[in-house]
Amino acid sequence: MIESMKGFKRTHKCGKLGLENVDETVILTGWVHRRRDLGGVIFIDLRDRSGICQIVFDKNVSENAFEKGDRLRSEYVIGVKGKVKKRPEENVNPKIPTGKIEVFVEEIRIFSKAETPPFLVENKINVDESIRLKYRYIDLRRPLMQRNIIIRSKATQAFRNFLNSRDFLEIETPMLTKSTPEGARDYLVPSRVNPGKFYALPQSPQLFKQILMISGFEKYYQITRCFRDEDLRSNRQPEFTQVDIEMSFVDVDDVLQLNEEMIKHVFEEIKGIRVDIPFPRITYQDAVEQYGTDKPDTRFGMKLIDITQIVKNSEFKVFRNTVEKGGIVKGINVKSPGFSRREIDGLIDLVKKYGGKGLAWIMVEQNDVKSPISKFLSQQEIAQILQRMDAQPEDLLLFVADDREMANMVLGNLRLELGRRLNLIDSRKFNFLWITDFPLLEYDEEEKRYVAVHHPFTSPKDEDIQMLDTYPEQVRAKAYDLVLNGVELGGGSIRIHSTELQEKMFSLLGFSKEEAWNRFGFLLKAFKYGTPPHGGIAYGLDRIVMFLAETENIRDVIAFPKTQNAVDLMTEAPSEVVPKQLEELHIEITL
Ligand code: AMO
Ligand code: AMP
Repeated sequence: MIESMKGFKRTHKCGKLGLENVDETVILTGWVHRRRDLGGVIFIDLRDRSGICQIVFDKNVSENAFEKGDRLRSEYVIGVKGKVKKRPEENVNPKIPTGKIEVFVEEIRIFSKAETPPFLVENKINVDESIRLKYRYIDLRRPLMQRNIIIRSKATQAFRNFLNSRDFLEIETPMLTKSTPEGARDYLVPSRVNPGKFYALPQSPQLFKQILMISGFEKYYQITRCFRDEDLRSNRQPEFTQVDIEMSFVDVDDVLQLNEEMIKHVFEEIKGIRVDIPFPRITYQDAVEQYGTDKPDTRFGMKLIDITQIVKNSEFKVFRNTVEKGGIVKGINVKSPGFSRREIDGLIDLVKKYGGKGLAWIMVEQNDVKSPISKFLSQQEIAQILQRMDAQPEDLLLFVADDREMANMVLGNLRLELGRRLNLIDSRKFNFLWITDFPLLEYDEEEKRYVAVHHPFTSPKDEDIQMLDTYPEQVRAKAYDLVLNGVELGGGSIRIHSTELQEKMFSLLGFSKEEAWNRFGFLLKAFKYGTPPHGGIAYGLDRIVMFLAETENIRDVIAFPKTQNAVDLMTEAPSEVVPKQLEELHIEITL
């Protein structure tokens, strides 16, 4: 029989009882977490969101309650009334905050029975993630998952509190909208009342937030879902949440400064660490040259060093030929002695996996070097390389010759891998870093045209505008990313705010004037009615919460995430629909 809650409202939360409650009569509600039966006495750990409390069914206290207590199984939902008692010294459990007390049950109600759960409600479980996702409601009961979702809620509120305190308005934008190109594929929604037409779910509120600036709201934010049908790498989800911000009458420094204060506020409040601002800034070009990536992990050194000039005429053909063809030669100093030949061969394999052609190495000794390429290098070349690489005896130097992009990418990856392997990364550090001055455009070999590095609404730097026609790929943008420990947390830009410049941008991207007006006419038109200079940024909230919760799995900070195949294993979405639905939409499945 299932019993009512009437007259059984809880008076306390399980995890909050302590010695100060001794001798009080309390009502607790929650789930049966664990049970131990010692003959005449049954001990149960009762769990609610606040934690765990031991409750005791003792025949001598209540025969009736004891009998019901005997029928309890894991995850039953119950309410108990009883007296709080101090535990005898030898029974104190120092592992839980309520370990000094227990509650002797006088009356119990069973609100709901439970089938045996497919896995235990414990932090440490040995079960495939797909089972956890299928039974997400049980998975979310585990203390670790509860903690993650609570951190997420707190972080969301911390963002809101900060932005509200700075006079930002929270404004919603449509979910059923027109597709805006953000680089990924759109999720499309067919319109029944407009047969043959489709909405797109927003990849971001980008154009709406710009239009809100044109409408005079000056400071906007929204914590909102974005949808991208893209390949799901590790920290990506098909629907994810952005903390989205836009401001009027600002330049790059204004945006970065406000954001530093916001990120400081959120991380200090949630993580209890000290965050120093302003954050260091590095240009895109320097980041790529020094770290081989536009999201450097600066918690350790091992920067990339260019030795092209030293080896461009060298006898070592790989180096000389690469430079002759316009490539570069760069290296890293691993500064770690004792690499064996086998380990170095392993690194060469790794480089090939990254797409590199090979790896040259020099082991520095007291008065000599050991290296398969030293016979092709002059004494002078070797001396210059050692000096340039700041080499000391026992250092291992690694070199890659390739075109600029590949050499940087390969060495950037190698640097990260070695940083991890050699334990050079201090996991307690939070190294925030702004990347600035991204290129505006990059050439897409597949599409045979320029594409926007950030998005088509990003403004070029004033001093570079004159190169738009002559050297478009050299034009830098007023764009910035915030990187934390090698992960891109967010990115934004100062926007174009004139019809002419925006039209120019579209034409550089290969749109005819007509195409541009077809797709973005509403924006180009809006620009004509008085547009403030504006700019903003968006963060991946999920990624930020991953840092706050210290997990590497994005699904662990989302209540109902999707798998790598974009499937929700609990609801089994996506699913087929009934023929009538398709008929109404005039859609035919041709599979
Ligand atoms: P961008 O495309 O760089 O910028 O996105 C901003 C941030 O959103 C996060 N993010 C994701 N998180 C999880 N899963 C995904 N699939 C995913 N894709 C992106 C990243 C990223 O830094 N409208 C612009 C912002 C602007 O210019 O103001 C935009 O969307 O953390
Ligand atoms: P090979 O001439 O291919 O036998 O290579 C001679 C040495 O140079 C080997 O140790 C290779 O790993 C290394 N090597 C080959 N290609 C490159 C490259 N592009 N950059 C750096 N080292 C390379």
